Amino acid sequence: MNSSINSPFRYAGGKFYARKLILAHIPKHTAYIEPFAGGGSIFFTKPKTDFNQLNDIDEELTNVYKTIRDFPNELINFLKRNTVKQSRIPSKLVESVLIGEPLPATKELHTFFKSEYNPTNELERAGRWFYLNRTSYSGIMNVKNMYWGYGDKFSMQPKNWPQNILRTSQKLQSVEITNLDFENVIDNAPDGALLFIDPPYFNADQDKFYQCYFSKDDHYRLAECLRRNNNRLRLFITYDNTPAIRELYSWMLEMHDKEWNYCIQRTDDQKNGSDKKGERYKGKELFILNYNSVQQNQLMVAFPELA
Ligand SMILES: C[S@@+](CC[C@H](N)C(=O)[O-])C[C@H]1O[C@@H](n2cnc3c(N)ncnc32)[C@H](O)[C@@H]1O
Repeated sequence: MNSSINSPFRYAGGKFYARKLILAHIPKHTAYIEPFAGGGSIFFTKPKTDFNQLNDIDEELTNVYKTIRDFPNELINFLKRNTVKQSRIPSKLVESVLIGEPLPATKELHTFFKSEYNPTNELERAGRWFYLNRTSYSGIMNVKNMYWGYGDKFSMQPKNWPQNILRTSQKLQSVEITNLDFENVIDNAPDGALLFIDPPYFNADQDKFYQCYFSKDDHYRLAECLRRNNNRLRLFITYDNTPAIRELYSWMLEMHDKEWNYCIQRTDDQKNGSDKKGERYKGKELFILNYNSVQQNQLMVAFPELA
């Protein structure tokens, strides 16, 4: 299966709302790598190619990707009510649910998975992560800033999680999933590969959102690493639009200022116990490329079905 689907995860800094702007600069390619995959929204939007790699330094995240790729049915089963012995979920938290039915999205189960549950294997780790990601505010997975944020109207309901997992699993077949530092991935990328590079922001409270974040040194280390691979690889970088980044990447061929609108849907029961409409924000970023990208044509030629 190679169609365009949404990321299975909710992910801070995800590029879902910018995907068309991004795809307009993506040339034809036979090897595609995301060294900072996060929710992988560009990978999931575009068709796969001969070689595809998703990498992230967050081991919990890559474990879920691998579990979805290799054990989708086991994960689906984990997310159903099982006997207490199988799942170690106290029966009082699921007493209204029949055995074999999906676990409901409730604040009590969210608290349980966040603070009490101790996974004993990779499947349990993936199940816990998936449940928390789908039910936390804005998909923020940093435990210090993780809050209940599910609403029936705005969130994907648990009864739809299995089909989400299955179609994601199909798309992930034959995809290489790695848990490495970006330098290792970029230096070892095959010649001519296209890399979509979406690092943590330069100026942002990124430690609030991600489990693994960047120091200033990491940003300089990334720029150096890209520079030494500049002649070998095609690079598409997206970063926050700041003078420091413009300066750091002044040697790249193209720099585009981009803006898009996006919405964060929330059920903010921390504030008032009721559903709130999504809040509107503007994404402002730089697209920095080391190849010549002809707007319009790129996407149409490479992926006519997305035009
Ligand atoms: C901005 S997010 C990527 C968002 C993604 N493009 C999307 O659409 O959802 C940045 C990611 O970089 C990862 N990261 C942080 N430090 C890293 C490192 N040294 N090597 C690889 N990945 C790293 C974080 O875990 C995080 O998932």
